[in-house]
Formats: sequence, structure tokens, C-alpha cells
Amino acid sequence: MYTTLVRRINARRNIIVFFVITALLIGAVLLLITTDAFDQKPIMNTPPENALYLDSTQPIDVRVADLLSYMTLEEKIGQMILIEKNSIHDLRTISDFKMGGLLSGSGAKPEVNSIAGWKQMITHYQKQTEETRLAIPLLYGSDAIHGHAHVPGATVFPHAIGLGATNDPELVERIAEATARELTATGVNWNFAPNLDQPEDIRWGRVYESFSDDPARVSTLGIAYLKGLQEGDAPVLATAKHFVGLGSMEWESSFNKNFKIDQGKVPADETLLRAQYLPPYQDAIDAGALSIMVGLNAWGEKKMVLQKELLTDVLKKELGFKGFLVSDWYGVHEGRKNIFWATVSSVNAGVDMLMLPFDYQTFMWHMKVANRLGLVSDERINDAVGRILYAKFALGLFDTAEVEGEIGSARHAALAREAVAKSLVLLKNEGVVPIDPATPYIKVAGSAADNVGRQMGAWSVEWQGIDGKTPAKGVSILEGIESVVSDATVVEYDREGLFDSNRRAAIGIAVVGEGPYAEGWGDNANPTLSEEDKLAIRNLQAQCDTVVVIIVSGRPLILNDIETYDALIAAWLPGGEGGGVADVLFGTKPFTATLPLPWPASLSQLPISHDGTTADGTKALFPRGFGIIK
Ligand code: BGC
Repeated sequence: MYTTLVRRINARRNIIVFFVITALLIGAVLLLITTDAFDQKPIMNTPPENALYLDSTQPIDVRVADLLSYMTLEEKIGQMILIEKNSIHDLRTISDFKMGGLLSGSGAKPEVNSIAGWKQMITHYQKQTEETRLAIPLLYGSDAIHGHAHVPGATVFPHAIGLGATNDPELVERIAEATARELTATGVNWNFAPNLDQPEDIRWGRVYESFSDDPARVSTLGIAYLKGLQEGDAPVLATAKHFVGLGSMEWESSFNKNFKIDQGKVPADETLLRAQYLPPYQDAIDAGALSIMVGLNAWGEKKMVLQKELLTDVLKKELGFKGFLVSDWYGVHEGRKNIFWATVSSVNAGVDMLMLPFDYQTFMWHMKVANRLGLVSDERINDAVGRILYAKFALGLFDTAEVEGEIGSARHAALAREAVAKSLVLLKNEGVVPIDPATPYIKVAGSAADNVGRQMGAWSVEWQGIDGKTPAKGVSILEGIESVVSDATVVEYDREGLFDSNRRAAIGIAVVGEGPYAEGWGDNANPTLSEEDKLAIRNLQAQCDTVVVIIVSGRPLILNDIETYDALIAAWLPGGEGGGVADVLFGTKPFTATLPLPWPASLSQLPISHDGTTADGTKALFPRGFGIIK
């Protein structure tokens, strides 16, 4: 018994000793690979005053190689992280961590959300890089997906779906150029646009961010947008997104428990990949895309950030993409449960810049450890950083004198108004439209008639948008109508269509639609009109000879009583210039737009594949390309 007891004690002691020694060993290894004593500092290479990378006459490849040759591991890793401005509480963080990229996610605004506030904030960030040894300028990114709409005072253009309806690349290029000028005016040098997704299910909350479900239209307009951003008088870096297949996720396949389809699975279909999803990216690359965002979706069962074949073999090698791949919001951490392995796998799969908005310290530590352990090679890091620097040189960040930009100007407002007029699709017209501006009495109703926030949709001041009064600059559709009718015309408005006077009107205008939403929060099992709006239409129908229904929405809605409408117009999310709606409604300008995607008749038709085939084989209410030209 005594000997058994002694054996047990010895066994337990051995286990404890074993664990202590192992822990000490692991600790020692980690200390060795992360401690500054083993960093490259002793061999830090100081660039001469006439270093090649500073010479703008040198080819970009030469400048990149030269700059890379002076950089330490930490400096390189600093270029690979993209963090949100809200995680900077002290300016010195930028120089201490040698950061290369910051972003304003939708909630990240300066303390005072104004044009001057933005400019001052970004100037301070940019200045802080001068405190670092190599003074590499920052990329500052934002989602100016329909103008620099988070900034009150900026011009708010129609969302991409409306631009898709115009099918007018020349107009789209001018809008992107104007957006670049507005961004430049506040110091933002990077826009997370154009969007090259192809939505085939209107239940998805991001339909309106896309131009069309037609790869050809997406290509044409995507390239126009990209060129407008990068080649105008105030160039900013464009990002084609979201690679790849976004828009074809299956309903209820989302990895996010709050969502239904956003961040879901795209069936891994090689034929569709080649025929449908890749062509717009190939075109964007050929047109000079230097940044592409990797989607939060999965291709088959595997998250996009882990898809080495698609990211490295197809996109970089086969399609010849020379720019950098940026992951989407925490996308890398969603790749695997363990975030260290998630980081290692994503970088090895081909992700060059990681949008880990609040986790820069962990990332930097992980990357250092991974490199020291040989899990992420020097070559991979040099390749990633080289690609990021390439974009910075190409954008002229090291050379060009500051360009002023232009924001909220009258000419930008006129351009937005032109775009609105060109984006309205006339779907039904029983001889009502255009309305005579001299009509004596017009009744207006509906949730979107006097609601600038609703007509702007999401990504406007707030990520999820604002339903109603907004600090953003804009003219409501009601105000637009009032501004184009004759002086003698009486326009009466009530949101619900309940008017004091019983006087019958020749014309009723119902401006109805959806409240704002962004991303998966807009996934909707039954996108249709609200009961409130249906009632407003019925109230108008009871008091007016004819009623025009204008739908303000981010997607086609399922309509059950279209036969009762005298005219139907899809206005998408027109943005700040409600006057553009009035221009076509009252005949100052013609209707020229066409549907950028099919308009389904029922939920059972969803999804509708890119060739127009509905899920139940019946005919869509209106096919893509439909629109009465008048
Ligand atoms: C979206 C991207 C966007 C990014 C940065 C993500 O949630 O999916 O489209 O560019 O946030 O704001």
C-alpha cells in the first residue's frame, strides 16, 4: 500500500513537472520569436536621401522593390492591416504600429460630422505617418457607394441599382468622378466601390448595391465607375467587390445567425464561375483595378478568404491581377474558429490586406509569430506588401501635390438630378404620365413622398440609413413635385392619404416603398409594400381620377394589386435630388431607363437565374430590360 501511494505521488509529480517544463519551453520559444532582440532592427536599412522609391520617374515596380528593401518585418505587417478609425484613441497608435490603412466603416465619423470635421480628422492621421521612419502614406477607405453620403453636405447620388437602370456608362463615369472629387475634398483616397455583385434573389438585403444581375451590364457600368474614380481630376483608389459569386447565395444559407442569405453559400459551379462571375472581374482588372474585396460568402462550403485556388491561382495568376486583395469586415476571423489559424490560412490563400477593424494588436503579433515559425513565408509577406505599395505608388500618394476636390457643389447636385431622371423606370402607364404641370389640383401620399432619409436608403450618414429627417443634404420628392408644377397648381400632401377637403383631384401620386436597411439586416422573406402604404394608395384611389404609384425601394417588390394602378414607376433609391423624379413625372425629361433585373410576380419565382429563368418556371412580371420609353 505504501509503495502504491509513493508511486501515485511520483506519477502526479512527473505530470506536473512535465507540464511546467513544456509551458516554460513554449514560453521561451514565443519570447524568442517575438522579442525585439530577435527582430530585424539591428540590420535596419536606412534609405539614402536619393532613394529610388522617392523618384517619381522610376517605374512603379522598381520603386516598390526599393522601398521593400528598407522595410522591417513590423513595418511590412503594419501595411497589411486595415483598421477602423474608431479603434484609434491616440494618434501615436498609427506611428507606433506603422499602420498603412485606415477606414471609416459606416459608423466611424469624426466627432463633428461635417466636411471640415472629416478633412481635419484624416489630415491628422496622415500627418502622423510622418513620425515613422519611412513615412509611408495611409490609404483611407470609406463606403462612398452612392456619393460621400456619410457626410452631411455631400451630394447623394442614386444607389447602384438606379445607375444600373440608366445603363449609361458615360453618366456613371461622371458620377464616379464627382464622387472622387467629394472624397478628395475630405482627404479620403480610397472608395470601397464599384460593386460587381449580381443579385438573383430580391430577398437579399444588398440588391440595391449592385448595378444589375446581368454580367454584361455589371461589367460596362463597373468599369465606367472604376475609371471615373481612378482617372478623374481627383483620383481615388477603387475596389471591385465582393469576390466572388455574391448575389447567388442560397436562401437560408447564411453563416450569420441574424441573416438569411447575406453572407451565405454560393453553389460552387465552375461553369457559372467562368461564364457569369469572373468576366466583370477580368474586365475590371484590365481597366486598372488595383484592389479587390473578398466576399463574406462561401464558395461551396468553404469561406472565400480560404479559397486559395480562386484568390491566388485564378484571380492573381490566371486573370493577371496585380493589385491587392482586401478581406471584408472581420471576414478573416470567420474563416476558422481559431483566429491565429484563420489569419495564417487567409494570408496564405492570397489575402493581402486584412480588414480586422479593431484587432490590429492581435493580428500583428500573430503575423510575427507565424512568420518566425515559417507558417507565413517572407515571400508571401513581401508579395502582399508589394501589392499594397504598388497601389499607393500608382495612386500618386508618394508624389502628387494635394488636390483640393469639390464637395456638395451645385454642379454635382445637377448631375445627381440628371441621374435620378435617367434612372426611373416606367412600368405601366394608362395614359397618365407625363402629368401636365398645369393640373389644377394634385393629391400626394405615401411613406416615401416627404422622406429624404427613405429616398437615400442606407449608407447615408448612418450604416442602416435614417428613415425620415436626416442631416444629409437633399430635396424630397414632394418638394421636387412642388417645384415643377405651375404656380396655379395646388399640391396637397398627407402621408396616409387622408385629406381635410373632400375635393376630388384629377391626379393622385402615391410615393411608397421600403424603409432603409443595409446588408443582412435587409434580408426579407417577403419584400412587398407595407400595409400603411397600401392603404395610402387605396385612400388616393378613392379621391382621385387616376393614381400614379411611385415605388422607392432597393429592389423590386412583390405587388398584388398592380392592375388597380393607372401608372407604375420604379424610382429605386434616388438619393438627394427628388427634383429628378418630378422632371420625368411632369415631362420635362423623357423616361429612358429599363429594368436592370427581372421584376418577379411572386415569391415562388425566386431565385431568378441570370438567363431569366424563374424557380417555378413561370414568367416574371417584367423581364430585365423592360421599361416604357416615353
Ligand atoms: C461590407 C463591405 C464594406 C465594408 C467596409 C462590410 O460590412 O460587406 O461592402 O465595404 O463593410 O465598411
